Amino acid sequence: MQWGLENRLAQIIRPETGRTVMLAIDHGYFQGPTTGLEEPGKTVAPLLPYCDALSPTKGILQYCIDPLTAPPIILRVSGGNSMARRDELDDEILTCTIEQAVALNAVGVSISIYVGTEHQRQTIQNLATMADEAHKYGLVVLGISAVGASLGELREPGKEQEFARYLALASRIAAEHGADISKTYYVPGHFDKVVGGCPIPIVLAGGKKVPEAEALEFSYNAIQDGASGVDMGRNIFQAESPVAMIQAVRAVVHEGKASEEAYELYQSLAK
Ligand code: R5P
Repeated sequence: MQWGLENRLAQIIRPETGRTVMLAIDHGYFQGPTTGLEEPGKTVAPLLPYCDALSPTKGILQYCIDPLTAPPIILRVSGGNSMARRDELDDEILTCTIEQAVALNAVGVSISIYVGTEHQRQTIQNLATMADEAHKYGLVVLGISAVGASLGELREPGKEQEFARYLALASRIAAEHGADISKTYYVPGHFDKVVGGCPIPIVLAGGKKVPEAEALEFSYNAIQDGASGVDMGRNIFQAESPVAMIQAVRAVVHEGKASEEAYELYQSLAK
């Protein structure tokens, strides 16, 4: 049944460019009503024509997304924790069965792994178990290299090499346990090492909101270093003009536009 998997993969990573722009709106599963996603349906509707795939949880998908206009869905299927107990964020379980994902017509499922944390084994097992299930039905598996609260210091300036080594380790482990795509963060100056050690396509999570020009610049740099696209959330839906931003990100990802040119596009569309 390899055909089904390849067909679903081609709905996510566009065969014309070999790249993808996924819109991540799964933040509420542990953050609650994240800024910009208080009313996810309203935020997301105008962005849908510009995303190749959408990453929600099963709740937001069913309550807020119109089944008649939805793009391919990559369903978030791990969770079970909250910001209210930040130190336990890595203590994830599977929150959705493969039958539910199939019933919701998902093309793929996404699962976080928390490598290097107290619960690394459990989260890697979540990924491996779900990957076996998903592949029975030809669904794509997106492995997310999450950085738990205990590893937050890896993001500090000056630790780029160490952070890149960590993300390379986590991305490779995601691939080794059955992921078809790895989602991870950008590390300036070292991202090529993350991509180089991972046998599956890597897509970029955006992280915390930064100025639009900066987000376009790191997206461009990641693509130059070999990323296959983005699975970006806050830097799109929290942008001053989300619709202009997603189009500018598309220009970087699918048209190979330089970040300065994409920012000019953003500014003119935002007007
Ligand atoms: C965490 O909530 C999820 O994995 C997000 O989908 C991921 O962090 C991408 O969203 P953002 O670009 O906002 O970091």
